Amino acid sequence: MARIVGTITTSHVPAIGGAIAKGLQNDPYWKPFFDGFPPVREWLAKVKPDVVVLVYNDHGLNFFLDKMPTFAVGAASEYRNADEGWGIPTVPPFRGDPELSWHLIEQLVAEEFDLTTCQEMVVDHAFTLPMALCWPDMKWPVRTVPVCVNTVQGPLPSAARCYKLGQAIGRAIASWPGDERVVVMGTGGLSHQLDGERAGFINREFDLAFMDSMVANPAWATRYSTTELVELSGTQGVELLNWVVARGALPGKVRKEHANYHIPISNTASGLMVLEPQG
Ligand code: DHB
Ligand code: FE
Repeated sequence: MARIVGTITTSHVPAIGGAIAKGLQNDPYWKPFFDGFPPVREWLAKVKPDVVVLVYNDHGLNFFLDKMPTFAVGAASEYRNADEGWGIPTVPPFRGDPELSWHLIEQLVAEEFDLTTCQEMVVDHAFTLPMALCWPDMKWPVRTVPVCVNTVQGPLPSAARCYKLGQAIGRAIASWPGDERVVVMGTGGLSHQLDGERAGFINREFDLAFMDSMVANPAWATRYSTTELVELSGTQGVELLNWVVARGALPGKVRKEHANYHIPISNTASGLMVLEPQG
């Protein structure tokens, strides 16, 4: 039986790719952010995952506004990175796991999630940069299954629906007969807004309450509508729905292994958490 060994939830910001390329990890602006990751790498060395199921939102590289699936799952043997317009260097391709992808797809559709299945898929900064922060040598030691959530163009899936998707992903992984050790990642958020009158909006109080809820009260965000979540966290802060999905995959009690929170990275309040199932 495959087993979820934990979740990593983190912000994704294109400028992180620029900072990596320029070697700015110890620059005073970047250090408080990059310092969050050595404990994550130590934890990964300990739990030794075989597969990462990575929940994120595409930013116009794979899906554009003309075709926007609510939920999409990759089923390719390889996922390539391309420049989606930020000018950051691309990273080496990622190995897929088509067998596990199709198992997830079968199980999720059986649980009435109407998915888009992607046998070809390119991945953007929301997928690549969290992976590069976890494995800076970019020799990816894991296979990957991308799960895309529409946090971009209304109507967005509700937090309740995202939490249920995460729970179904957890059940699907648990029912896979392989002996894989799986990390579920969720990327995006925390509060930020890139456009409109509230550009630059940050909500530290909400972010910290949300991070707190991730440990023992994972359905907390489901009390809010997507409009309320946008009001509270910003038009891009609502990417935190990807955290809600990832957290939903962990059944039972969890232990907080590590957390970091820092304002700002570019326009974003950056959050990072590692959670492990208890017992
Ligand atoms: C920024 C944050 C994002 O989540 C993103 O997708 C693009 C840019 C930013 O803060 O610059
Ligand atoms: Fe984003």
